[in-house]
Amino acid sequence: MSIVLDQYRQSFVDSLASALGMTAVEVSRFVKPADPQHGDFSFVCIPVAKPKKLDPAALAAELAGKVTAVGLTLAPAGPYLNARITPLPFTQQVIDAARAQGAHYGEGTGGQGKTVAIDYSSPNIAKPIGFHHIRSTAIGHAIANLHRSQGWKVEGINYLGDWGKQFGLVAVGFAEYGEPARKTEMAHLVEVYVKANARAEKEPAFDEQARAFFRRMEGNDPEALALWREFRDTSLADFRQVYARLGITFEHWDGESLYQGKMDAVIDQVTKTVGTRESEGALIVDLPYKKDEPPVLLKKSDGSTLYATRDLAAAIDRQQRFCFDRALYVVAADQSLHFKQFFLVLERMGFTWAKSLSHIAFGRIHGMSTRKGNLTLLTDVLDEAHDRALEKVNTNIAEGRMQTDDPDALAEQVGVGAIIFGDLKNKRTTDYEFNWDQVLDFEGGHNGPYLQYAHARTCKVLSLGGGAPTSYDAALLTLPEEQALVREVARLPLVTREATEQSEPSLLARYLLDLAAAFSRWYTLGNQERAHRVLIEDDPALRAARLALTDAVRLSLANGLKLLGLQAPRQM
Ligand code: ARG
Repeated sequence: MSIVLDQYRQSFVDSLASALGMTAVEVSRFVKPADPQHGDFSFVCIPVAKPKKLDPAALAAELAGKVTAVGLTLAPAGPYLNARITPLPFTQQVIDAARAQGAHYGEGTGGQGKTVAIDYSSPNIAKPIGFHHIRSTAIGHAIANLHRSQGWKVEGINYLGDWGKQFGLVAVGFAEYGEPARKTEMAHLVEVYVKANARAEKEPAFDEQARAFFRRMEGNDPEALALWREFRDTSLADFRQVYARLGITFEHWDGESLYQGKMDAVIDQVTKTVGTRESEGALIVDLPYKKDEPPVLLKKSDGSTLYATRDLAAAIDRQQRFCFDRALYVVAADQSLHFKQFFLVLERMGFTWAKSLSHIAFGRIHGMSTRKGNLTLLTDVLDEAHDRALEKVNTNIAEGRMQTDDPDALAEQVGVGAIIFGDLKNKRTTDYEFNWDQVLDFEGGHNGPYLQYAHARTCKVLSLGGGAPTSYDAALLTLPEEQALVREVARLPLVTREATEQSEPSLLARYLLDLAAAFSRWYTLGNQERAHRVLIEDDPALRAARLALTDAVRLSLANGLKLLGLQAPRQM
């Protein structure tokens, strides 16, 4: 399935190429999306005219006179040659493509036959799953969905932080503060962890006990491992509930503990290739380090292994198991140095595939506070989002603005969706300020509820109109708002492709806001002018064409929301 907009662009490029005696690849570099006022594509004449000592504006005018491209009207504007897609057959092609592909509209084929390993969410066990984990979780999930939509085989990995000193803290903390009967209660473990952590910071002897416990784990002490397993199970049971609410499943739950037992082999391999040396009693990778750069630690002075050691083993293992073409690590920007360094170590070890690893970094969330107070657990945020959404849903129902058979289920879809979208709409590398009113504003916010509402509205219009027609006349869709909306629908497959390549879900999030806005501009025309109503009463042919367009918008919104990990309720 080729993308309609691509075909028009290609036809413009090909016609220019033959007129200029250049290759299509060369010409393509100078064809950009046009300012919507001027058209759909724009050919920048300057770089072509200059070497030939031609005046760019004269070249644009000359080309406008002699080039013809199917389905496009060309016009010069200064040094640009603009191309506008003519309404037919474009309108029909776009609507038909969306409706024929249905739930698959927006997908692509660029990833067919390729595999991507995506390390995302990856919370640390025995610590609470904090609100900030929404970033890796939501961004990673969207990136996984996007890759699937382009035909990639996705190996999604929840690389649990289930190995390390924090278990020592929970274990020694439990002996001190724990209630054995509450071992399977996550909230209790968190309490214990928080107390133990605070105490270890003040009391070196207590900290040493925690380290000693972790050394017992690394030394395969059965008693220590049994306790570790119990705590791990408690955390996992808790995490699974959160993932269920978010609609996330992973192909693999491979925690750091999986690489326990492979540490010596990996250290040996690094020693033989890149080299290792001792520094202040610890074992580090022998690399040229910049002044003040912390070295890559493989083993602490007490012999315990580290995050970097396990990440090296994990990367090698993933390449062997999945033969990935691309491996992504969706992790906070704070860890940039860690990734830069361990990718470099893999490269120096001679792994050519090290080049296909990327750190998909993201910024921080500021300003989150819940009604409950300080420690912001992701579950609490989701609960609060649910409650706040429910208040609004109930008010809207009471005031006759909303319909639903199940207010509670709707509140969950809207509340959780609001949190996910509130995150994804931000360019991932920037920090953002969390604001309850913004993410959940039902009246005209640029947020998840707004998109879900737009989708529900398309469903409602279609049901009032008796469903989408099988045949319709696309030539009737002549309003500028209709043409603008068709163009938005046409962009979905381009946007998903681009968002996948850049691992940037915000491109899709923002596109959906544009699409919903274009729909709303069109839809509200009818408030002023009866003839502009989607469900126009006295013109069945026009009504059918408008319903077909509405159907294409519905599919685009639904598919886009699902890729981002949001539900698209039909009623709202
Ligand atoms: N557990 C880590 C944390 O919460 C993130 C792990 C990221 N993935 C990795 N392969 N290092 O900070």
